[in-house]
Amino acid sequence: MSGQSDLELVNKKGIRLDGRKAGELRNIKIEAGVLENADGSAYVEIGKNKVRAAVYGPRECHPRHLQDPTKAIIQCKYNMMAFSVSDRKRPGPDRRSVEISKIIAEALEAVVLTELYPRASIDVYIEILQANAGTRCAGLTAASVALADAGIPMKDIIPAVAVGKADGKVLLDLNKEEDNFGQADVPLALIPKTNEIVLLQMDGNMTRDEFDKAIEMGVAACHEIYELQKDALRRRYSAALKDGDSNE
Ligand code: CDP
Repeated sequence: MSGQSDLELVNKKGIRLDGRKAGELRNIKIEAGVLENADGSAYVEIGKNKVRAAVYGPRECHPRHLQDPTKAIIQCKYNMMAFSVSDRKRPGPDRRSVEISKIIAEALEAVVLTELYPRASIDVYIEILQANAGTRCAGLTAASVALADAGIPMKDIIPAVAVGKADGKVLLDLNKEEDNFGQADVPLALIPKTNEIVLLQMDGNMTRDEFDKAIEMGVAACHEIYELQKDALRRRYSAALKDGDSNE
C-alpha cells in the first residue's frame, strides 16, 4: 500500500489492469467437501488466489488450559505456502499470519453456535496455495463453507471481500497491483442475514464519502459471494445424496 507508482491502475475509460470495471468482482469458484480426511473442507479461487480450508471438530480442546467450560473455542491457523507468492517467503508462522488467524477466528465466532460445545475446540486450517491480494477474505470465505460442510451449527455463513482505492477510484476486490500500489485496502466480511459486519480493517486513506461508497460496494458483493457459497454446499450435498454417501 504505497500509493506511489507510475503504473496506471485504472485507465481513462475506468478499466482496471485485469480488464474489470470498478465495481466488478474477479472470477470466483467455490467447492465444498474437497478433502476426505477433514470433517469439513472447501476450496476457493478468487481471481488468482487459490485457498483451501479444512475444519476438524468439535473435538476435545488441546492444550487443555485453553478449554472454556461455557463454550467451544475456535482455533484458526492461516498459512501462506512458501510457493504462494513470487517473493521469497519463509515457511511457517509470522506476525502477519498470527494477526490474520486471529481476526478470522473472531469473525467465525460471531456465527458458530459455540455454546453448544463446552470445553471443545473447533480447528480451522487455511492454506493459501496461491496469493494475489485479498487472501484473508478468500480464506474466511472458504473457512465458513468448510464449517458448514463439517455440519457445525451456525447462524449463517460469512462471505468476505476487500474494497479499496487505487488511482483515486473506489474499487471492489483489489488485485495485487491495486493492493500494493493503491491508496487504500479495506477487507470486510459480514453476516448476510443481518448485514452485521464481522471483519473490517483498513490500510491506507480514503475520504468519508469514498469509505461509505466502498462499504456499500463491498456489502453488495458479499451478498453475491454468499450465493456462490450456498450453491457450493448445495452441489456438494446433492452429489453426496446421489452417491448414497450422505454421512461423508
Ligand atoms: O492477502 P491479503 O490482501 O488479505 O493481505 P495483505 O497483507 O494485504 O497482502 C496482500 C498481498 O500481498 C497478498 O495477497 C500477496 O499477494 C502479497 N504478499 C506477498 O507477496 N508476500 C507476502 N509475504 C505477503 C503478502
